[in-house]
Amino acid sequence: MSFERKIKELLEKRELAKLGGGQKRIDAQHKKGKLTARERIDILLDEGSFEEFDMFVTHRCNDFGIESQKIYSDGVITGFGTVDGRLVYLYAQDFTVFGGSLSLAYAEKICKIMDKAMKVGAPVIGLNDSGGARIQEGVNSLAGYAEIFQRNINASGVIPQITGIFGPCAGGAVYSPALTDFIVMTKDNSYMFLTGPKVVKTVTGEVVTEQELGGAMTHGSKSGVAHFVADEEEQGLLLIRKLLSFLPQNNLEDPPLSPCDDPIDRLDDELNDIIPVNPNKPYDVKDIVYAIVDHNEFLEVQRNYASNIITGFARFNGMPVGIVANQPKYLAGVLDINASRKAARFVRFCDAFNIPLVTLVDVPGFLPGTVQEYGGIILHGAKLLYAYGEATVPKVTIVLRKAYGGAYCVMSSKHLRGDINYAWPMAEIAVIGPKGAIEILRHKEIEAIEDEEERLKYIIDKENEYLEKFATPYNAAKYGYIDDVIEPRNTRFRIIRALQSLATKKDLNPPKKHSNIPL
Ligand code: HXC
Repeated sequence: MSFERKIKELLEKRELAKLGGGQKRIDAQHKKGKLTARERIDILLDEGSFEEFDMFVTHRCNDFGIESQKIYSDGVITGFGTVDGRLVYLYAQDFTVFGGSLSLAYAEKICKIMDKAMKVGAPVIGLNDSGGARIQEGVNSLAGYAEIFQRNINASGVIPQITGIFGPCAGGAVYSPALTDFIVMTKDNSYMFLTGPKVVKTVTGEVVTEQELGGAMTHGSKSGVAHFVADEEEQGLLLIRKLLSFLPQNNLEDPPLSPCDDPIDRLDDELNDIIPVNPNKPYDVKDIVYAIVDHNEFLEVQRNYASNIITGFARFNGMPVGIVANQPKYLAGVLDINASRKAARFVRFCDAFNIPLVTLVDVPGFLPGTVQEYGGIILHGAKLLYAYGEATVPKVTIVLRKAYGGAYCVMSSKHLRGDINYAWPMAEIAVIGPKGAIEILRHKEIEAIEDEEERLKYIIDKENEYLEKFATPYNAAKYGYIDDVIEPRNTRFRIIRALQSLATKKDLNPPKKHSNIPL
């Protein structure tokens, strides 16, 4: 065969591979409102940056007549490319080939790019759209999944791993995404569950739709499995690009600095009045976040899950940070099981990838009650405590208003190696709120007063006395637990100065095989 013919053959093979399961199946994919794997890659990566591996791989199965259907790429597109000029490895499952189901050859393709990403220290992005284990391949398919799981585990905390779910993801296949750092789902077309609606009905009698059971809204708000919910695929893919802009390539690098023309000493007078005079009145802590970060840009993680705490990425003077803030607008910003789990995972991610933590505190305490106690709030609350205490990245904490009881300790306090701890003048830092304190400390005196009006006046007087004496930042500042009481409008500048002073921070945990976080 002439060289010319050989090149023609190559180009023809490439064209064939690019068609995946064929035009009919591509049309069917589009008809469902879904993009193909290759279209997704085009949106995710910088134009023209994709280098594909293993285009000519086919499956090696000889059962159920599948041996006569060998399709190039075998249902998954793999390779590397760049996002904003930075290297990423990726795989995109191709639903047009055997429903994107996973064969051994397919798993080997994914493992190959994961191994390469680990060697060079680059993030791995997985775009999922698959019917799960390829049924014809039996245990070989299960083995393939488990090989991927092992690599997800090895890569955890070494390189960022992000999964987009853009179609079905069911059965044990859900565990690879679950092992990654972030899951993005799209509304309507994506779902994740261990067992689908039919099995659920047979086993439990429950009648539930795919979307109710495992759609993006379910995982974005009820289970907390999804970190981001996109309206459609393009938005989801652009979200992954944005998320990557905050992350280092690996755990040995610092997060990428961006040029910043937002003045570091920008004062925001409105912050001096943002806390309501009535300490029981809510406000939106996100208004504070937007006001202090560069260009008011905040990428919120798990926006609709455990809204009593907010987590997300922003920048101060171009430096990416992870922000954790109690949200008084929901459940008064109380810490409960879900809020503790959500924030703990976020804190650990930031610590693993050298992203400084900025914590805004306004927390009345932990949520009381049997639901919380039976659900193990002791262990879940301990997760957040553990995460903060274990974290060695720069930790800057601002107590905005309330910091009561155990929640004071947990929320990146000085005692958990908080590096710089500031408070606003309206901060209340104490063991317990004034009402509870007076009920406990003065119950004998209160019970002794027979006249109701007089009793009420006594209670109010004592509460005010308590508030003035204990519920201020100055008691904590007196002991050095608060490094300074700052003017709210100057918060941005003080945080930036704090982060600058911590840029070369080094701290270590004692050597150990691994920690034993209360799971
Ligand atoms: C082989 C599969 C497949 C699979 C789909 N296909 N899933 N082939 N193995 N797991 C094929 C179909 O036969 C069909 O081929 C094509 O892909 C498209 O599938 P459709 O059913 O026509 O598409 P749709 O109606 O959109 O339904 C998608 C689906 C459904 C909901 C994903 O295909 C489905 O339920 N698939 C089986 C899911 C499943 O049980 N997987 C195993 C889960 S357990 P043709 O040639 O007709 O177009 C698991 C364990 C992992 O994954 C364990 C890890 C530890």
